[in-house]
Amino acid sequence: MKKKSLVSIHDFSKEEQLRILELAGEFEKTPNSSILEGQVIASLFFEPSTRTRLSFETAVQRMGGRVIGFADANISSTSKGESLMDSIKTVALYSDLIVMRHPVEGSARFASEVSDVPVINAGDGANQHPTQCLLDMYSILKTQGKLDDLHVAFVGDLKYGRTVHSLTIALTNFNCTFHLVSPEELKLPSSVKQHIKDKNLKYYQYTDLMEAIPKVDILYMTRIQKERFSDPVDYEKVKNAYILTRQMLGNTKPNLRILHPMPRVNEIEEQIDTDPRAYYFQQALNGVYVRQALLAYLLGLKS
Ligand code: CP
Repeated sequence: MKKKSLVSIHDFSKEEQLRILELAGEFEKTPNSSILEGQVIASLFFEPSTRTRLSFETAVQRMGGRVIGFADANISSTSKGESLMDSIKTVALYSDLIVMRHPVEGSARFASEVSDVPVINAGDGANQHPTQCLLDMYSILKTQGKLDDLHVAFVGDLKYGRTVHSLTIALTNFNCTFHLVSPEELKLPSSVKQHIKDKNLKYYQYTDLMEAIPKVDILYMTRIQKERFSDPVDYEKVKNAYILTRQMLGNTKPNLRILHPMPRVNEIEEQIDTDPRAYYFQQALNGVYVRQALLAYLLGLKS
């Protein structure tokens, strides 16, 4: 029987998501082991990445596995015209699991269908980023002690921000209230808002970030995704829409934590990095533990 892949956050039930968070806690306590000894993980990045690629590779190394792959598709046979199908079918012969980031929405689902080994979607265009979603959930759980009944603000590029899409959908299982802060042009897609409506949860839309800040437990900042704009003039209009400064944090809930999937361009002033409410670097570290948990789970080494 074909092993399970993780392409969309929908591929894991709420119970499975919580199990991954539990396993991540175990890996945080004991990161180094040899449970992946003898396993080869393929890391195929057709789009740039720092955190996702390197935290996956760190996760593999910490568990005694090996990594093959590329960080630049120009050095793969894609540059000679090879199809994604042929690349994936070939790499599946060499490896036990494939981690793939690709600019085309739906490419990860396609890869999972043609691959004989599990595929983990490390981001497909503006669609989904389920492993980021799980590490965001882990970060929220660690900082708030719960996932339920929270007020969460998503700020910035809610249209193209795939991390926002995945996390919104996941948090609809936890009775959260959503505060959606974006320019008019970059609102959360209706298809994602429909998930909130389907669960009879509340969401509020703002253009003014200051309206949302005092109300929320989590302030999830995002970058305006320059690479997704077809017209650079449209990007120029919104690129500085939200820049979080220390002065803007004068009236917050005491438990507020600031998250950002990173990379940051200019959405959060560097002065905020030392503020106890800033959690985005720890969030990036949490990615290692969550990805250890995912690899172990999908390879059947943990259940
Ligand atoms: N959060 C995230 O996906 O970061 P990278 O693009 O650096 O992998």
